[in-house]
Order: sequence, then C-alpha cells, then structure tokens
Amino acid sequence: MSAQSSFYVTTPIYYVNDEPHIGHAYTTVLADVISRFHRLSGQETFFLTGTDEHGQKVLTAARARGVDPQEHCDEMVQRFQRLWERLEIRNDDFIRTTEERHERVVLDFVRRIDAAGDIYDATYEGWYCIPDERFWTEKDLLAGGNCPLCERPTTKLTERNYFFRMSRYQDWLIEHIRSNPEFLQPESRRNEILGFLRKPLGDLCITRPKSRLGWGVPFPLDEEYVIYVWLDALVNYYSAVVDRKRPDGSPWWPADLHLIGKDILTTHAVYWPTMLKSAGLPIPRTILAHGWWLVEETKMSKSLGNVVKPISMADRYGHDAFRYFLMRDMVLGQDAGFSEESLVGRINSDLANDLGNCLNRVERMIDKHCARTVPEPGASGAEEQELERIGRRTAEAVPALIGELKLHAAIEETLQMVRATNRYLEVKAPWKAVKEGGTAAVASTLWFSTEAIRLAASLLSPVMPAKCGEALHRLGVLEDPAELVSRPLRADQIGWGLLEPGTEIRPGAPLFPRIEQT
Ligand code: MSP
Repeated sequence: MSAQSSFYVTTPIYYVNDEPHIGHAYTTVLADVISRFHRLSGQETFFLTGTDEHGQKVLTAARARGVDPQEHCDEMVQRFQRLWERLEIRNDDFIRTTEERHERVVLDFVRRIDAAGDIYDATYEGWYCIPDERFWTEKDLLAGGNCPLCERPTTKLTERNYFFRMSRYQDWLIEHIRSNPEFLQPESRRNEILGFLRKPLGDLCITRPKSRLGWGVPFPLDEEYVIYVWLDALVNYYSAVVDRKRPDGSPWWPADLHLIGKDILTTHAVYWPTMLKSAGLPIPRTILAHGWWLVEETKMSKSLGNVVKPISMADRYGHDAFRYFLMRDMVLGQDAGFSEESLVGRINSDLANDLGNCLNRVERMIDKHCARTVPEPGASGAEEQELERIGRRTAEAVPALIGELKLHAAIEETLQMVRATNRYLEVKAPWKAVKEGGTAAVASTLWFSTEAIRLAASLLSPVMPAKCGEALHRLGVLEDPAELVSRPLRADQIGWGLLEPGTEIRPGAPLFPRIEQT
C-alpha cells in the first residue's frame, strides 16, 4: 500500500431512481473494504458515496407518481442508505446532487471553465437517448436509429445549447494517460481509452433547455438552461471535499481512487479529467473500472427478472458472507458470474470448511486440554517453522496485493494459510497426541495453529468486520466482538507471533454454519 498518510476513495453516485442491485452493492463494498484496509494501515481515509438526483429519468418517475421531484428523491435515497447500513458500509460522507453544498460548487466549476474560455453556444442537431441522457451523432446510432448504449429508440432534436471545448484538451489527455500508467486501470481499459482518443475528440454539450428539462442545476450563464446531468454528477467528487483538509493541511482533492463500472469509463476517463484541467484543478490519481456481474452470462435487467437484490442475499446468507463472496469471486477488471449456488458453494468451502472449521478445532482443543487458555508455544519443529514462514509471507503479501487492487488474490492468499493450518492440524493430530501424553507438543501445535487463525481473521477483518471481530473476540484479542465494524485493527496487530500465551479464549458455536443446498 502507498506510503502517503491519507487516502480518498469514491464510488459512482448511483441514480436515485434505481432499485439497488448487486452492481451497486459490489462497488460500494469494494470501496468499503479498500478504505478499511487503508485505515488499518494507519492512513487517514475519506470514503465518499452518494446519489445522482437530477435529469430526465428522475423527473419522469416523479411525475408518474404525481410527486414533487425533490420529495421523490428524498424517499428513494433511503433505499441506498438503508442498504449501506445493512451491509455495514462505513462511508465518511454521503453526497446528494440536489444538496445546496453541491450545487454551489457546480456553479463555481462552470464559471471556472467559462473563465478559461472553454464554453461557447451553438445550434446542435442530434439524436437524443432519454434513458441515457445522451446525444448521439447519426453515425453512432445502431441500425434503426437506436441508442448504441442501451439499444432503445432515440429522438431527433435540434437545439441551441452550450458546449465545453473538450477537443482542446485531447493532446494533453493522451499525454497524461501515457505518462501516468496508474491513472487508468486495468490496462485493458487504458488501452480502450487511448484507442478512443485516436479519433478526434468532439466538444461536449453541457446544457439542456429548461423548456425541455427543468430538473437540474441552473446554468449560471443563461437562465433558460440547466446543466447537463453528467457534468453536475462528476463534480460530486470535488464538491464533497472542497471545504475539507487532509491531516497535513493539504486539500482532500484530488481523489486517490475513483472506483467505477466499465460502462461509465468514458465519462470518467475523458469528460472528467478534461473538465478538471479546464477548471484549473488537479486530476484524480487513479480511475479503476471493474467488470460486470452477470447472471447466467447475461446482463441483469428488470425485464429479464434476474436482478439480484443485495438485501435478500444479506438476509439469507449474512452480510459478511455476501461481502466475502463479492470480493472473492470477482477478479478486478473482469466480469464475474453470479448465482446463488456459487455463493453457497463459496460459503461452504471457504468459510464453513476452511476458516470456521479451523477456528472451531483450535477452540475446542484449547477448551478441553488447556483450561481455555492459550498455551505457551514451546519448541518448534519443521512443521511449525513452515507454518510460521507461511504466516509471515501472508502478512506481507496481503497489504501488497491490496495496494495493487488485487483483492481476490489477497483473500485467496489468506485462505491458503488457513488451509495450510488445517493440514498442519491433521499432520500433528493433537487430539491423538494428547491421549499419548505429549502435552508439550500439543501446546505448541495449539499455539501455532491459533496464531495462524488469529492472523487470518485479522487480515480478513476489512472484508468481514463483524465475523472477524467475533472470531478475534473468541480468541481473546478483542473485548467487544462488534468493535471492528466501526474501528479497524491497528497495523501492529497484523503480523506473525502476536498471540499472547495465557489469554483466555471464549469458545462458541460455528462461526459459519454449513448451508444445506435445497
Ligand atoms: N449516476 C451514474 C454515475 C455517476 S458518477 C459521477 C450511474 N449510476 S448507476 O446507478 O446507473 O450505476 C452505478 C454503477 O453501477 C456503475 O459503475 C455501473 O457500472 C455499476 N453497475 C450497474 N450494473 C452492474 C452490474 N451488473 N455489475 C457491476 N456493476 C454494474 O451510472
């Protein structure tokens, strides 16, 4: 992980109209896990999420319900806020684009672009996709005139509007991407944007006439217009932190990491940096585009009825197990398949069989043979040295993998250590050794295996704060089992050799009961 002392991570702001689904849950859990890792390593961390509340879709939905659009947003936003609570997301701020604190900054941002001489007006003819709120030129359209993004029909419009001279920043952007390899990740997305930038970059229409669409931030240069919803939305990353300072007194802006889905790459990797450049503001350090969760290899959609609802998954399987699955089963940058069978399979194999079982074994043995107290390790043989080597390697590898944003690999590395511990227990068979009178050897076996499971629970705590907190409470490391939900471990609690002999443990029921598939 980077050595800087603070870290700012964001999720996209979600369309307030949408019913939260697994895609929203994924990015937000990812940001939560990443920010928990950064906090754990001692960095002051700022984690922002929120909702995108302007535009045609919100207005249409509010009208269909016969309510005022603001009232509509105030109701809808709660679905996201409730979900984040349910998944134990600890964001530091929640920004809504209808808030005054945001609108004020958007106005200032537009004025800065104008002061740079980058706004002009022109009459424009194009094909407009209402659901995506985007104009297309004729050559962009699919056969039959449909939107190339969502494949729905478009409407031809001729309008006078205001434009941002985005084309002016094309060469600068190409150079920035080329000389900052960490800016766009993964590399495939960086290449995609460099490919896109081989064609001349057009200017960007940044207004909508009020006569057609009134639900937006008023355009400060002409009262007949509101600001294009994407300009308004992107500025959230800046507006939320404009008045805040990092611990060293420097501004929170620019963000260290924008997490997004691959479908909103162009807006983030092209519109946003060019707008910032024009406004004279710094560019975010990294934009990482993840893949899609697919259901039976197709996109989720309301019409197919295959939308995965995160609340039902958390209710059915526990929120920590669901968080674990999301982080373990998607290789960052690639698409991943979702099915309840794969979720249950993952819980049963990694969490019940490997992690839960290992914890349960050491708890039972210490309970029975060591008066519930962590024994002194005593002498270590080849197997103990091997387990210690694995433990030390894992404690080093995990933070490095998190720094490289390879969360699935960091989790897998930790599980490898848990599996090695289970194998070690089978080889040493302390349950047999105890009958044969080898008390000192049993004490060593139990100290080494308990230390490995303590380390595993510590390394997994950003992914499963409640379950790992409970595991560490049982091992006598934490007084309060719920502590990790809101406060991370300290960096000096991660490492090999920290388990204190003499600590009283608190054995309990299986942490992850096996789920019987019906
Ligand atoms: N409001 C815009 C973002 C503005 S950010 C300045 C938006 N909102 S959204 O609610 O439609 O989508 C939010 C995120 O969810 C996007 O990153 C999108 O890629 C992601 N996902 C939507 N469906 C998804 C999956 N099936 N799988 C993974 N993520 C997906 O776009």
